[in-house]
Amino acid sequence: MDKPLISRHLVDSDGSLAEAPREVPKVGILGSGDFARSLATRLVGSGFSVVVGSRNPKRTAGLFPSAAQVTLQEEAVGSPEVIFVAMFREHYSTLCGLSDQLAGKILVDVSNPTQQEHLRHHESNAEYLASLFPTCTVVKAFNVISAWTLQAGPRDGNRQVPICSDQPEAKRTVLELAQAMGFTPVDMGSLASAREVEAMPLRLLPGWKVPALLALGLFVFFYTYNFIRDVLQPYLQEGKNKFYQLPVSVVNTTLPCVAYVLLSLVYLPGVVAAALQLHRGTKYRRFPDWLDHWLQHRKQMGLLSFFCAALHALYSFCLPLRRSHRYELVNQAVKQVLTNKSHLWIEKEVWRMEIYLSLGVLALGTLSLLAVTSLPSISNSLNWREFSFVQSTLGFVGLVLSTLHTLTYGWTRAFEESRYKFYLPPTFHTNPAGALCCHPGQRPVSPALLQPQTLQDPEGLGEGWRRQVHAASGLRPGPEDKPRVRCLHPAPEARHRQDSAQSLSGLLACDHVGHQDYTRMGGLRSEFLGRVW
Ligand SMILES: Cc1cc2nc3c(=O)[nH]c(=O)nc-3n(C[C@H](O)[C@H](O)[C@H](O)COP(=O)(O)OP(=O)(O)OC[C@H]3O[C@@H](n4cnc5c(N)ncnc54)[C@H](O)[C@@H]3O)c2cc1C
Ligand SMILES: NC(=O)c1ccc[n+]([C@@H]2O[C@H](COP(=O)([O-])OP(=O)(O)OC[C@H]3O[C@@H](n4cnc5c(N)ncnc54)[C@H](OP(=O)(O)O)[C@@H]3O)[C@@H](O)[C@H]2O)c1
Ligand code: HEM
Repeated sequence: MDKPLISRHLVDSDGSLAEAPREVPKVGILGSGDFARSLATRLVGSGFSVVVGSRNPKRTAGLFPSAAQVTLQEEAVGSPEVIFVAMFREHYSTLCGLSDQLAGKILVDVSNPTQQEHLRHHESNAEYLASLFPTCTVVKAFNVISAWTLQAGPRDGNRQVPICSDQPEAKRTVLELAQAMGFTPVDMGSLASAREVEAMPLRLLPGWKVPALLALGLFVFFYTYNFIRDVLQPYLQEGKNKFYQLPVSVVNTTLPCVAYVLLSLVYLPGVVAAALQLHRGTKYRRFPDWLDHWLQHRKQMGLLSFFCAALHALYSFCLPLRRSHRYELVNQAVKQVLTNKSHLWIEKEVWRMEIYLSLGVLALGTLSLLAVTSLPSISNSLNWREFSFVQSTLGFVGLVLSTLHTLTYGWTRAFEESRYKFYLPPTFHTNPAGALCCHPGQRPVSPALLQPQTLQDPEGLGEGWRRQVHAASGLRPGPEDKPRVRCLHPAPEARHRQDSAQSLSGLLACDHVGHQDYTRMGGLRSEFLGRVW
């Protein structure tokens, strides 16, 4: 990019161009690698004057926009107040010769350690840089932005730039610079946070690890189970070669099992949580860690369930396209002719298939709604009640439809002896049986939970907590003794994050009660409530 996007010229009253009176801010970059080049391009495009310091300017100058000045390191650091250090940590010490020229300047550390480096060094790269240049102010920033995003512009990639420094003035300068470049700066506090900021690009979907491993484990388990039943048993006991079923048929029996079990695991912890609250007589006590983690992983498990269900639907549509299916049809037709049967129509089978397919499509449609509302752009436009309705009520409907789809697919075949291969029951009936316990969702079925008082009066659980408070304080609860703040509602931006700490930071006091909020705040809620009261 040769031309800056923000013109340094102003249009005069007579329409001619006049030089802007304001001086263009000059920014320095040390290093001439990928990051330095992209940064220079973006800075020039954002209207800054750029000077690049390289050990070999002649070699690298041609790679930079012509508006950027590429020179020797010692010449580049003279005039700019802000200097980006676009080099790796191990080369920082080579800059020590420039200490005098760098004194009083703002050094922006953009570096990212590798996983090993992060574990090896106790101090962050930015703190190390600060220790080498005590007369400079070090600001950690832009490390989460890739060279590609810098070049392509902030519309194509992550816009957020976490920034931290011990010097508020220097931090503000870099915050404004990031803003001028089209990014969204996020103040991360002092330089002590640099280690945390440097760890950000090292994370790979942290919230997905457990659900993904669970899904993989379930897939391996069900694939092996179905392989034994559908391929190995016919081969060993009947001499039939059904290995051709491995790529499509066995996968299509496995995927819905995984989808269904995961979906059940999304709604089971809510029941466990509610049962635990009833058992304790209060909803204001911390859950055990395992339940808290389980509750927090529901979004990922739900989305993985949707993914498997969608794949299952696609595989199902492919079933009639297979050559094996065509051969089976032709063979069946030939058999019919040989046995002199002209019209094959089993009314019950026709209905079974019509119903289970329709239920499957409805279930997938419902789950699609849940998946769509988990997109931040959609969920931010919903209030907590709408979001909760889709996630909790429609999710529950989706689970019921999936169960009916599976049961109608199985029909009476679970009672046929031939279906039990190697004494292993068919998955279409073991799955729903295992998952039935979580179907009631927030409408618990166990006799204890069916008590009208607890079902209709969620406050009943709150009463338990109030009783505990009054017992502790020695006071008797009066009729007017209502809580001033009955519920805590996460701010919209925190609402759809699973991380309890993040949710807490976005808490707002409000006067309604939302169970979606429990999900996010998890066990931390009780401690927080203690403070509000
Ligand atoms: C395709 C798909 C997408 C999904 N996307 C999302 C998403 O974007 N975000 C998301 O959060 N979930 C998502 N989920 C998961 C799921 O839909 C929600 O977690 C849903 O709110 C669960 O509803 P529930 O009625 O079982 O649980 P809840 O309504 O959370 O709980 C039921 C009852 O359990 C008790 N309870 C549960 N948790 C707590 C707690 N921590 N503290 C105190 N009491 C508690 C309360 O008594 C509550 O009334 C998704 C699921 C699927 C299938
Ligand atoms: N690439 C990315 O997408 C990205 C994203 C975020 C953060 N970062 C960070 O940005 C920094 C630079 O990354 P990069 O991808 O631009 O790396 P790079 O292409 O290897 O460039 C590093 C530059 O450091 C300079 N350098 C100075 N002293 C050096 C020495 N003694 N030995 C070797 N090089 C020396 C070199 O420029 P001269 O030869 O001109 O002196 C070299 O071009 C790193 O800290 C990285 O973690 C990169
Ligand atoms: C467009 C949507 C869907 C279609 C077309 C569809 C179709 C099918 C078909 C054709 C089968 C029989 C598979 C076989 O021959 O082995 C089946 C079985 C099954 N489906 Fe679906 N389905 C859909 C959605 C879903 C959803 C959303 C779920 C649950 C999350 C689900 C769960 C199951 C289960 C558990 C089985 C039984 C698998 C077994 O144990 O044999 N399906 N479905």
